[in-house]
Order: sequence, then structure tokens, then C-alpha cells
Amino acid sequence: MLNMGGPSTVAETHDFLKNLFSDGDLIPLPFQKQLAPWIARRRTPQIEQQYEDIGGGSPILHYTQVQGEGMAKLLDELHPETAPHKAYVAFRYARPLTEETARQLKADGVTRAIAFTQYPQYSCSTTGSSLNELFKRGKAGELGQLEWSVIDRWGTHPGFIEAVAQNIEAALSKFPESTRSETVLLFSAHSLPMSVVNRGDPYVLEVSASVAAVMQRLGHSNPYRLVWQSQVGPSAWMGMQTGDALKGLARQGKKQVVLVPIAFTSDHIETLYELDLEYAKEAREHGVEVHRAESLNDSPVFIRALADIAAQHLRDLAAGKGPVSVQLGLRCPGCTNATCGQQKAWFARGGR
Ligand code: FES
Repeated sequence: MLNMGGPSTVAETHDFLKNLFSDGDLIPLPFQKQLAPWIARRRTPQIEQQYEDIGGGSPILHYTQVQGEGMAKLLDELHPETAPHKAYVAFRYARPLTEETARQLKADGVTRAIAFTQYPQYSCSTTGSSLNELFKRGKAGELGQLEWSVIDRWGTHPGFIEAVAQNIEAALSKFPESTRSETVLLFSAHSLPMSVVNRGDPYVLEVSASVAAVMQRLGHSNPYRLVWQSQVGPSAWMGMQTGDALKGLARQGKKQVVLVPIAFTSDHIETLYELDLEYAKEAREHGVEVHRAESLNDSPVFIRALADIAAQHLRDLAAGKGPVSVQLGLRCPGCTNATCGQQKAWFARGGR
């Protein structure tokens, strides 16, 4: 289960930031090797405080483990031919890091694995970065004789959409019935630098597709917008920014908003701090009543969706489909990172 991860304890914050700012697939920086440790050091005290404020660490590992265990159990029933199944977590920037998980897979004698992204929508800076990292470890012989296949995106899977829609409905029910339909649904996804968007990254399109599917499931009961959060640094990022959107809606006299995290499946700092403690608080000060749709966390509907996605992948493989999706094979038209091409070819051969 591939994801960016988050520091489980406050003390792990610095290492997490250093890993994050060192990843040129995520945040391309000039002089990255020198600049990344410097930025990480500078930002650590502030981000440590944020992790303190949300309870002393990120819950993403806890929820990913809960999701993984639930999924593996269901998968044993849904696809007994390949049982027993076991979920491993491989984070890109926090423990357990890919290299740690690779060691564990080897120690456990695992011979067959699915690289299952936990980012519903594909971006080269998130899922692509995790796959590049796995590829590098595989090339270095750290993964043993594992045979790989990849689940690279599932942003419109009906089970995922249903789980999000149910959490929106729960948030909407907090508003009085008489004015509920006037509530604005503000979908918020992690932003991307425009340099990534402009090289042809599919993320913006795929997040939009998720939003469209959720709105269809909701019968277009409410007006909505998709906005973008968590930009860092001075360069141009995908907008409109979530915080500005809330202020704009307040200016226009909107009184009720449901904030919907659409590209995160578990709570982490971007939901618990940025959405709940920053944006929602600020909007309330501007007279807007804001409720956030819960993250999927331990939602049984979502865990069932993960198992369904994995089971379908295994059925497709048994039916002779290749180890990767057709879509994964296509590089961004503006891609200049040679690793992307090698990685795609490697996974298409089953990691050999
Ligand atoms: Fe998208 Fe390389 S950046 S394939």
C-alpha cells in the first residue's frame, strides 16, 4: 500500500520533511540536494507544532494498517485462489519507508506482490514517485525475486465514490433541512506545481473525474467547486486555493459549506490541521458554518472498495491482462525524467 505517509510521532517530523523536500518527483527544486535539508530544518519547528496540535503525530499509518488488514481479510474471501493475502505499508517519506518494507518482504519470503497506490488519482509526483522508488530498490536487488503488478489509479471506482458520498451526506445532515440544499460542497485536493501540471500530469483531470462521479452519485443535490490546498514555496501552483475560496464564498454571502477531502483517503495533517484548524476556523470567523466530510479512515464501505479493486485486478491478471494498466504505460508528453520510462518498462515486465 503505497502512500506519502506522515510522521507517526512529532520527533519524526524533521526526517519526514527532509525526505519530502528531497524528492524531485514531488517538488522539483533547484540545487535540491543542498536546498532540501535547509528547507526541512527551517520548517521543522512550525510543522512539529502542527503535529502537536493534531494530537502528537499523523494517524495515516494507523489507518493504512486498519485498511490493509480489513482489505486482506476480505480479499481471502473474494479471491481465494491467491490467498492468503497480506498488506504491507510502504511510505515515501515516513516510516515504514519503501526500503524498510522491502527488507520485510524479503525476510517474509514473499514472491508475488501488488504495488497498490493509496492515492486514488494518479500523479507522477505521488504514485509515480512511489513507483520510481520501488523500481530503484528493485534494480538494486533489494526486493529479492518478487514478481510485481500495479494498481495505479481508482479515482472513479464506485465503492470509493460511494464511501465519499456517504461521508458528504453525513456532513450535510448537520445543516437544517430547510437550507441544506443551499450548502456549497467545496472539494479540496492537494495542489500541484504548475510545472508538473504543464508537463501533462493526469492528476487534475483524474481528481475532476472523481468529483464528477461523486456529484452524479449525489444527484447533483448541491452546488460545488473543486479547489486546491497545501501549496508551498513561491512558484505557481494549481488554484484556486482552498483558503481563498472559502473567503470568496463568505464575501458572496454563502453561509454553509461542506469541505470534502477528495484526494486523501486517511486523515493527516492536511485534513486535521489545514482544513479543520486553519481554513474552517477562518471561514467561521467570516460567518460561514463549515462542516468537513470525514476522511475515509476505517469506513467499511471504503475497505470493501479496496478489496474489490484488488480482487478485480487479480481476476484481470488471471484472465491474461498484463501487470500494469494501459494508461500507466504512457509517459507525460513533457516528461524529461528517464527513470519514469525505465520504471514503466520494468513494471510492465512484472518487475524483472
Ligand atoms: Fe510523468 Fe515522467 S513526469 S511520466
